[in-house]
Amino acid sequence: NANARQKDFLHISDFNKSTILNILDRAKEVKALIKSGERTYLPFKGKTMAMIFAKPSMRTRVSFETGFYLLGGHAIYLGPDDIQMGKREETRDIARVLSRYNDIIMARVFAHQDILDLAKYATVPVINGLTDYNHPCQIMADALTIIEHVGQLEGTKVVYIGDGNNIVHSWLLLASVIPFHFICACPEGFEPDQETVKKAQDAGVSKIEITNDPKEAVRGADVVYSDVWASMGQKAEAAQRRQVFQGFQVDEELMKIAGRKAYFMHCLPAERGVEVTDGVIEAPNSIVFPQAENRMHAQNAIMLHVMGL
Ligand code: CP
Ligand code: NVA
Repeated sequence: NANARQKDFLHISDFNKSTILNILDRAKEVKALIKSGERTYLPFKGKTMAMIFAKPSMRTRVSFETGFYLLGGHAIYLGPDDIQMGKREETRDIARVLSRYNDIIMARVFAHQDILDLAKYATVPVINGLTDYNHPCQIMADALTIIEHVGQLEGTKVVYIGDGNNIVHSWLLLASVIPFHFICACPEGFEPDQETVKKAQDAGVSKIEITNDPKEAVRGADVVYSDVWASMGQKAEAAQRRQVFQGFQVDEELMKIAGRKAYFMHCLPAERGVEVTDGVIEAPNSIVFPQAENRMHAQNAIMLHVMGL
């Protein structure tokens, strides 16, 4: 049933264009309300959220917990040692038990299959707070940030430089729903998942390019986007990756090639002097902090949507 509301928020491409745009509009509305100091809008009053983290986090943890509280609810942090998903207890048992205490579950996990299993067995909405495969809440916040700074997402040129990782997969899935120009410039052998690239290209919504040439890619960009070269779970490969990724650092020279209108974005945490220079991240056209702030506002709207509020 095309009209049935999705229970979970696992991939941006599970939703159609109008739903994604509605969520982003709602994010703007509730953001304005929160920033005005208004504290009487409490849609999550009497509700609780379980937040499962198998990996470290600052933004995801604090933005979800704060956002849920500001709208009247109570969030419970469950760190890597608390639940030990799949080790102390099976994912399907965790899903069914938490569903009996909580109104919503947010989870950050390693294997993507874990979030799929959680969603399958939970009777309450499950929100993906990052997996090895994707990071949909991040890219919803990024879309909101681009709309606020560039004026719109449709038709903009977003150039990602670095590893073809979870962030890239969410950009690709967004590009299969909303029309813009997405380029991923990565070293050979570090391209995003082929099936996801094909899915996004086959959708026929956006112009999508995968290249190994960052200098050519950034010309005329509205946004130059970067992420760490070694994601969580890959830190042992960090030194080797630094060698392979030479030439993929976003530095002043690359931003100059991009052109004057280009904003710099990064999901953070950033390693200054590795994937991006200190100068680029501190420059006036860097919007990494408004971007981080928008995690909370985008997620509030996502939670309101999946909870039918
Ligand atoms: N961008 C992001 O998800 O940050 P954290 O890992 O700190 O949550
Ligand atoms: N690609 C990074 C994103 C962190 C928010 C990671 O998975 O570690």
